[in-house]
Amino acid sequence: MSDSSRETPFRLLFSASVLAMALVFVSGRLSADIELPPPATEGGMGLFEALKKRSSAHGGDFSVAEVGLPELSTVLWAASGLNRGETGWTVPMAEGLPPYVKIYVASAEGVHLYDHRAHRLIEISGENVKAGIASQAFVKKASHILIFVADPVGLAKLSNKDAATEFADVLTGAMTQNVYLAAAALRLGARYSHSMRIPEIKKGLKLEDDLERPVALMMLGK
Ligand SMILES: Cc1cc2nc3c(=O)[nH]c(=O)nc-3n(C[C@H](O)[C@H](O)[C@H](O)COP(=O)(O)O)c2cc1C
Repeated sequence: MSDSSRETPFRLLFSASVLAMALVFVSGRLSADIELPPPATEGGMGLFEALKKRSSAHGGDFSVAEVGLPELSTVLWAASGLNRGETGWTVPMAEGLPPYVKIYVASAEGVHLYDHRAHRLIEISGENVKAGIASQAFVKKASHILIFVADPVGLAKLSNKDAATEFADVLTGAMTQNVYLAAAALRLGARYSHSMRIPEIKKGLKLEDDLERPVALMMLGK
């Protein structure tokens, strides 16, 4: 066997490894979605104790400590996850529809959209937008910021179109109260905020439809 024919299998192996690494790199970038671990659905603090503890964390309470993925998973599930088969949710929805308010998550890792049904985070961008989306200085210190956005696609399914704005606001109220209670049970800091920089949010979240209306923010910290 000549030297060149002996080298061929090694060259092929080398080329295949390089190709595999390139594919992992490319697919890693393309799939920066986040699989959430299962939420906590039993044990933990009782509801009445969580109600006693529910409060808004003060700006100074948002430390640089990261809220972990298991905690984020539980908070998002509490906000609007499936709790009974394929049509039962942790919050009530008009006409039994699926969630018509979207929850975006801004963190140091970027911006993600919560997929209520699949319970995963879909990457919108890798940009850290926390500093720009609100004027209050403490907001950017929060580990994660949940941004509640009225979803025109979901709201279009309502037969009562005139009530769309009101229903999206009511749903945001239910979702954010569940976030407060889950945060209390997990001993996380949480704060609702209406102070938002709408143009920065629209840009950071890539909201293109004017009817995609940011309703509220919730900061989470540890
Ligand atoms: C509709 C609404 C709007 C709010 N907007 C802001 C806000 O813009 N900035 C802020 O720091 N807190 C905001 N908050 C949080 C309230 O200030 C907080 O809930 C209130 O001080 C009561 O405190 P507690 O939640 O600990 O009971 C808002 C709360 C609600 C319900």
